Amino acid sequence: MDPATRIRELRQLLRYHEERYYVHDDPDISDAEFDALMRELSALEAAHPDLVDPDSPTQRVGGRPAEGFPTVAHLEPMLSLENAYSAHELREFHARLCRALGVAETTPMPYVAELKIDGLSIALTYERGRLVRGVTRGDGVRGEDVTPNVRTIRAIPLSLSGPQEAVPAVVEVRGEVYFPRADFQRVNDEREAEGEPAFANPRNAAAGTLRTLDAATVSRRGLRAFLYQVVLPAGSPLVAATHHATLAQLQAWGLPVERHHRLCADVDAVVAFCDEWRDARHALAFETDGVVIKLDDVAMRAALGATAKFPRWAVAFKFPAEQARTRLKQIAVNVGRTGAVTPYAVLEPVRLGGTTVQMATLHNEQEIARRDIREGDLVLVEKGGDIIPKVLGPVLAERPDGSAPWVMPSQCPACQSPLTKPEDEVVWRCDNISCPARIRRGLQHFASRRAMDIEGLGESLVDQLVTLGHVHTYADVYRLNAETLAALDRMGPKSAANLVAAIDASRTAALWRALHGIGIRHVGEGVAKALARAFGSMAALRAAPVEQIEAVPDVGAVVARSVRAFLDDPRNQGVLDAMVAQGVQMADAQGGDADTLRAFTGKTFVLTGTLTSMTRDEAAATIEALGGKVSSSVSKKTTYVVAGAEAGSKLEKAKALGVAVLDEGQFQALIMTSQA
Ligand code: IVH
Repeated sequence: MDPATRIRELRQLLRYHEERYYVHDDPDISDAEFDALMRELSALEAAHPDLVDPDSPTQRVGGRPAEGFPTVAHLEPMLSLENAYSAHELREFHARLCRALGVAETTPMPYVAELKIDGLSIALTYERGRLVRGVTRGDGVRGEDVTPNVRTIRAIPLSLSGPQEAVPAVVEVRGEVYFPRADFQRVNDEREAEGEPAFANPRNAAAGTLRTLDAATVSRRGLRAFLYQVVLPAGSPLVAATHHATLAQLQAWGLPVERHHRLCADVDAVVAFCDEWRDARHALAFETDGVVIKLDDVAMRAALGATAKFPRWAVAFKFPAEQARTRLKQIAVNVGRTGAVTPYAVLEPVRLGGTTVQMATLHNEQEIARRDIREGDLVLVEKGGDIIPKVLGPVLAERPDGSAPWVMPSQCPACQSPLTKPEDEVVWRCDNISCPARIRRGLQHFASRRAMDIEGLGESLVDQLVTLGHVHTYADVYRLNAETLAALDRMGPKSAANLVAAIDASRTAALWRALHGIGIRHVGEGVAKALARAFGSMAALRAAPVEQIEAVPDVGAVVARSVRAFLDDPRNQGVLDAMVAQGVQMADAQGGDADTLRAFTGKTFVLTGTLTSMTRDEAAATIEALGGKVSSSVSKKTTYVVAGAEAGSKLEKAKALGVAVLDEGQFQALIMTSQA
């Protein structure tokens, strides 16, 4: 097959699979298979730069927009919605609407009820079916042009599908960019590991992400989108006469549409929909804070028009923030890995918003004083859009006798060092880097699955090891022996031996794991992998000047400085040296990331014919270094046949079996993109 045809085919195939995944929620290939197709396409495009197309799925990860974001005027203002908080207010909305239309309230009036997505509104412009612009709401009249970032969101097609005659020359589609709960959780975990403050809710996370100046970060985070509105330039024919048909059209264009929307025959059905989702929403994969009710008939909408801020034909029903009362058993303080000491509420367990809550935030010392929250109080707890519930305040009428205002401890609860707080900050800190609480948190992170992955070294064991003084630094982990471990609580000879083996295995863990595990501020998994890929060993990184660190893709000035400062600290140098002395390698065999980034893992290559740029042995070594296998005979299981000049029967056999054949240029391109 000629490259142009295969490229076209791959692009269609990738788009098809993206649509299956993001629009229909029903993928029919694995992520690994998807990645393999993507890599094949990148390789072909690298080998044929003339065939690169800006709409190719490989082009999603854009570069860095020059500076800030330019602002763009919207085709028509992006309005907000009036809120309704009860069934009564929904009926009032319906009554208002009927009055404005001059019809009786009993007139059948179909509405579409949609879940209100807790994200950030976005306007996408497609010209001749191709995505040309993505703009945030901004002030409603002008928004920020975040096109490079929007293009990385895989749920958003770069071109619309279906017959092109059915696509208007210019169309703006509007909707919401959001984080699925799971991705939101992951992003927050990563931020925590990087010493960054967690996003309070998915909406903040989506807004923060979309306005990031680095499209590669946006791409990694996993934003999604749902679209629900079409805006056409003046004079264009309507896409559909009703809203529910518009949603169907959006879906037919390959755009993701939230599938739980419902055509409701009247306002009673709308009220029923809102009732239904009040509790059911907790099981959704994304956050929703209400229901948007929209008049179905597009002509009637036009007749109703809008006020300066809201359309008259739609309303947002807001679910009440869930609240509960429970007893505040204790105000405890937590010492984080970085030494920040924060108070939190330990509650009598209570059901709230689909989960059982036993802990809640109290923000900081000042807030506790402002609200006069005391231990023993009956408190009101609320779970709104934020993941962690908050204590709103005490129920004063129920305050037990003899209670006293809460006082922030002056010493670290773990090491008794005096806590410090700079004048202009609200957070108290324990500055003692040998503080057992800090070490405990640090060690839990070091051993965790996304760091050194030492199975069996969990929270309770870390607690014991630190309490008994067996472990003070990461290096001490490598001095533990089976005898010491077997003597610990809930350990026996067998589990001690397993743990020793797991610790031993981590000596050769990929470099990124150590880089992530040792707790350098701003270095999460992503940055750790980028650093590992670039430097290949801790020794090389330790020797690197800050400019060289900053030059690594995905690493900015702040991160580079933080890495350099960590490595320059004599205490950290001591720990790293001790780890090396204990046989912790912190180096990747091929100078890259051995664990996850070996692009050819699971792939079998057959080499045939004469290669001009390298010998057979060199080609084989490269394949193996990337995790692939080289075989001498072609079978159905062969992934690629690499055919040099004068290739013979193996090439024939590959063709007969339908095995992919790469010429030397394509093979080189594949290696290049796989090593990148
Ligand atoms: S319709 C003119 N539908 O909620 C109609 N908005 O509180 C504009 N939102 O600015 C919006 N889910 O960002 C609509 N299914 C949905 C929505 C939705 C979330 C957001 C949107 C809007 C805000 C208003």
